[in-house]
Amino acid sequence: MTPDVRVFPELDALSHAAAEIFVGEARQAATTSGWCTVALAGGSTPRRLYRFLAFGYADRLPWSAVQLFMGDERYVPAGDALSNFRMIQDTLVDHLPIPPENVHPVNTSYEDPAAAANAYERVLRESFPGDWPRFDVAFLGMGTDGHTASLFPGTPAVLEARRWVVATEVPREPRRRVTLTLPVFNHARHVHFLVAGPAKAEALRQVLTTDPVSSPYTAARVRPSDGHVTWWVDASAAALLDPSVVRRARG
Ligand code: 6PG
Repeated sequence: MTPDVRVFPELDALSHAAAEIFVGEARQAATTSGWCTVALAGGSTPRRLYRFLAFGYADRLPWSAVQLFMGDERYVPAGDALSNFRMIQDTLVDHLPIPPENVHPVNTSYEDPAAAANAYERVLRESFPGDWPRFDVAFLGMGTDGHTASLFPGTPAVLEARRWVVATEVPREPRRRVTLTLPVFNHARHVHFLVAGPAKAEALRQVLTTDPVSSPYTAARVRPSDGHVTWWVDASAAALLDPSVVRRARG
């Protein structure tokens, strides 16, 4: 199946376009089921998108019907500069009319990250009945090694097939992480990868051309059977892609 790859001149345009699509998906979910559940990406690429949502789209969503979760978290104290939730608070949550009870950070105050993962899985299970959580929207980034969330190639977390949330050690600081697992992302309705910068070009080419079942690139394995994956990419990250898989942005 041809991947849905949308290329934009730079990060601002990519982030605006992704925000527009997200608002439509979120409104649809809230209208259909009364709720919209979102798994948020960490790292730096989504910062622009979150700020656009906070300052340009805040009045276009019924935030009281939106539940925000973390796709992964670095195992650092709350408020730490490296915390994904701290970044999401600064760029998005602190500027939204969203009830605090709708925002679900990972509790990183446990001594053992495994206890934090168990606790976060309990939080998810309170919000999602059934065998797997089905997020309406999941935002993801991708590393230069093809990792996504905190599912790094070669780590046991990538192979987790039963748990919704696991603790993991990754080859990048901060090494201790808590992450949603691949089956969770593969049950999402709408997955949006945000990828920018020339350093990502080779990994993106690999991810979009290797067999998802055997690919060493974790991001290639995010293929929801009953969901859609959209790649929001800037021109520099798309530089090595075959033009046949790319839908160029207008403007
Ligand atoms: C994290 C993210 C991670 C991130 C990628 C891309 O905790 O860092 O979950 O998966 O999305 O590493 O990061 P950048 O957007 O900063 O390039």
